[in-house]
Amino acid sequence: MRSYSKSCVYQIYVKSFADSNKDGIGDIPGIIGKLDYLADLGVDYLWLTPFFTSPMNDNGYDVADYRRINPCFGTMEDVERLIAEAKKRGILLMFDMVFNHTSTEHEWFRRALAGEKEYQDYYIFKDPVDGKEPTNWQSKFGGSAWEFVPSLGKYYLHLFDRTQADLNWENPKVREELKQVIRFWKDKGVGGFRFDVVNLISKPAVWEDDTIGDGRRFYTDGPHVHEYLKELVADTGIADMMTVGEMSSTSVEQCIRYTRPSERELAMAFSFHHLKVDYKDGDKWSLMEPDFKQLRDLFATWQEQMQDADGWNALFFNNHDQPRAISRFGDDDTYRRESGKMLGLLIHGMRGTPYIYQGEEIGTPNAGFTTIDEYRDVESLNYYEILRANGKSEAEALEILAERSRDNGRTPMLWTEEEYAGFSEREPWLAFPRNRKGISVEEQMQQEDSILAFYRKLIQLRKELAVLSEGDIRFLDTPEGTIGYERRFEGQRLIVLCNLCDRAIAIPSEEWQQGELLLDSYEQPPTDVTMLRPYEGRARVQNEK
Ligand code: GLC
Ligand code: CA
Repeated sequence: MRSYSKSCVYQIYVKSFADSNKDGIGDIPGIIGKLDYLADLGVDYLWLTPFFTSPMNDNGYDVADYRRINPCFGTMEDVERLIAEAKKRGILLMFDMVFNHTSTEHEWFRRALAGEKEYQDYYIFKDPVDGKEPTNWQSKFGGSAWEFVPSLGKYYLHLFDRTQADLNWENPKVREELKQVIRFWKDKGVGGFRFDVVNLISKPAVWEDDTIGDGRRFYTDGPHVHEYLKELVADTGIADMMTVGEMSSTSVEQCIRYTRPSERELAMAFSFHHLKVDYKDGDKWSLMEPDFKQLRDLFATWQEQMQDADGWNALFFNNHDQPRAISRFGDDDTYRRESGKMLGLLIHGMRGTPYIYQGEEIGTPNAGFTTIDEYRDVESLNYYEILRANGKSEAEALEILAERSRDNGRTPMLWTEEEYAGFSEREPWLAFPRNRKGISVEEQMQQEDSILAFYRKLIQLRKELAVLSEGDIRFLDTPEGTIGYERRFEGQRLIVLCNLCDRAIAIPSEEWQQGELLLDSYEQPPTDVTMLRPYEGRARVQNEK
């Protein structure tokens, strides 16, 4: 049996989950207060986004001290209590290790700026070339990836915000410092780790301009990345722990190497190709309807190839960097319930370890913001300016943000139907989704056929049904607009069929319509089994013996 095949991870965006001290910002004690809810949902791990000391330019992904707690989230005592209280309920914590870069407010960077050579070697400082940036690489948040420091006469590399300076992993001292961070949290009883953009840590030996792209082809899955990961994992003794790497613009081949148990790197990996099927020409800021054929083919490729080579996928549609899948691939209005469940089934039915992002289990939609001052995210604010500078009208730029902003996924959790949603007792740091009526934990707790109840069932089934946790997967040739696959294990066959369209679609094969109906995103079982209703997701089990 594969490790973590029966597990389910729940991701908490700490700033938006639950506010215990009424300052409008989610915090650690707030999470403790919701542990019973999470235990009842049945999840095994909680991945918490970074809550360490930080100037919060990128909401904590700019870490200034890996061992201290940002006071707005609580204290070390709170964190220790959270770990202990979760453990009591059979839940383990996963902390987010942002090791590609630090905040420019980190002590190492400050000492580098103050002229200490030793700490300049912790980062990637380069001399100007022809009086300009060392390369033409672009930051993922817009603009140059280099920032000039006049006092040093040098540039430093930042693949993200200019306040997130990339670390120099070639320096063994840096690698040792980061191992110490892992050991520190492991000793506190943390059950696993998520590694932020970890496939970007190894930069190339030669620095050159990218004439066809933004530079990513030079540092993505870079020359020493596997070596560095193996070393980090071996030296901190986390090879058998729950670990997941966030892999930016990666390939299946690379992810097989990151996750194959014999490599002793990571337990699983996030990849993002399936979340670009609505990017026009691969550009996040150009809108396009989702291409479901491409979505289906990407899932098929990743699932089947990872399986054949013993890799392991982290399964997900949502996280704090993505707009809500229900608004993107489903229908967050008329078919909210049906499409919310269907998307859940599509993800949870596959081979891998499913991740649920807070609010997904109740069908939280996109934010629906219509003015720029509702947005908080650094990437959104940067791109708003870039879009405007490139000639988009204010209305056009806002329309793009409404679809693509990361703030869509960051709105505070909807616990109740009250004004502040049971999240806080005052205006939160980021507004609630405009369209939120009937979307709350409180409301859905009382309904047997809620999205929430369906997710609970999905989590439970993965623990009970071996075909779901261990089965081989093969994708079926279903009509366009639908995605279907089968799982097989010891004479059992599970068939999952999902309709991603707002119209009914006929499914040709009779063979897929046999067996016991295990799950359906509609409350009423189908009257005509040869048709998938709009946004219907259906799972059947067949016993071949
Ligand atoms: C990852 C995080 C994202 C962050 C970026 C830089 O992609 O998920 O939120 O902005 O890394 O740390
Ligand atoms: Ca608070």
